[in-house]
Amino acid sequence: MPEQYFGSLLGRVASATDGVSLIDLGRGNPETGPPAHVTDTLVQAAARADVHGYAPFRGLPELRAALAARYGETYGVTLDATDEVAILPGTKTAIVELCLVLAEDGQTVVLPDPYYPDYPSGPALAGADVAYVPLAPGNGWRPDFSRAPTDNVAAVYLNYPSNPAAVTAPEGTFENAIAYARATGAAVVHDFAYGDLVFDGREPRSFLATPGAKDVGVELFSMSKSYGMAGWRVGFVVGNAEIVERINLLNDHCRVGIFRPIQEACIAALAGPQDSVAERRDTYQRRRDRVLEVLEPLLGPLTCEGTFYIWIKLPEGVTFETLLTEHRVVVAPGEGFGPSGAGHARLSLAVDDETLELGLERLASAFDAAR
Ligand SMILES: Cc1ncc(COP(=O)(O)O)c(C=O)c1O
Repeated sequence: MPEQYFGSLLGRVASATDGVSLIDLGRGNPETGPPAHVTDTLVQAAARADVHGYAPFRGLPELRAALAARYGETYGVTLDATDEVAILPGTKTAIVELCLVLAEDGQTVVLPDPYYPDYPSGPALAGADVAYVPLAPGNGWRPDFSRAPTDNVAAVYLNYPSNPAAVTAPEGTFENAIAYARATGAAVVHDFAYGDLVFDGREPRSFLATPGAKDVGVELFSMSKSYGMAGWRVGFVVGNAEIVERINLLNDHCRVGIFRPIQEACIAALAGPQDSVAERRDTYQRRRDRVLEVLEPLLGPLTCEGTFYIWIKLPEGVTFETLLTEHRVVVAPGEGFGPSGAGHARLSLAVDDETLELGLERLASAFDAAR
């Protein structure tokens, strides 16, 4: 197995410092939890006597129905709650395990570059090769499928709004992905973990709203970022019924359903008032504005259309280590995000305002000194 990026990042930070007065902008861990009606549902459900046995293998039908209804209302996508929705313990699990059900030994899995650092783990476990579809600012961050392989490709992973590039899907991206899948036989896996966190009045855009998407692929929806429930470990694989069945079958072998009170609280989150989702999005947009105000004069124009990250090119002479040891600010080093990541860093907005201000002060002084 390759090194696990986030695990080793925490180790690097711990060994380089005593942790005192360190400002951490390296982690994408939502800083606030879900609204009270969600935690109240969990507490009340956990106090019942009948919830502590094994939950149904494929989850509560009511939870699958709530997710399907949410997809209809928010993204205009119709899902069959029985055949087109699988419940998993977090989309990270789905990211890794989908490779096990899609790729045979020696097949290729195509990843975007830059990518979310957990993506190479699936191909490694499946014995699959990795190839890249480059994304570049010069090309509007549009995946260049003409540079992706066409033989023996099991799957192509995409992620919009994207971690780390923080862009939404450029026009034509999903259509091109479907055409590539049809031409090669690859499955499309669209990671929609930040789907609701889009700024400047943009509408969230599901891959499954594109005609033909369900014929070739699935989308991953997470409770973690929309609702601040990262620690709860609930995510969904939705779309193509055959792929949903495969991931369900793998799950039937590996685990039993998620603790019922957690599922009931997820229903409360998905079916209840959605103002917390909008508040979260507005908070990250406000912080995004603040980061751009401070850093653009030093680094030049930055892009952030959604998520809670900002992807920056580090000035000459500034590295993860110099930021950590000389300026006591942690960023996520770009190398872990794929071949194009060297010399870059990802900043997180998922910290409180005070931490962000202190981090910005330190980054600004580091970047200013490098000019
Ligand atoms: C792009 C992306 N996909 C998936 C995940 C994993 O989310 P989950 O908590 O649902 O496992 C993350 C977490 O940071 C992410 O950034």
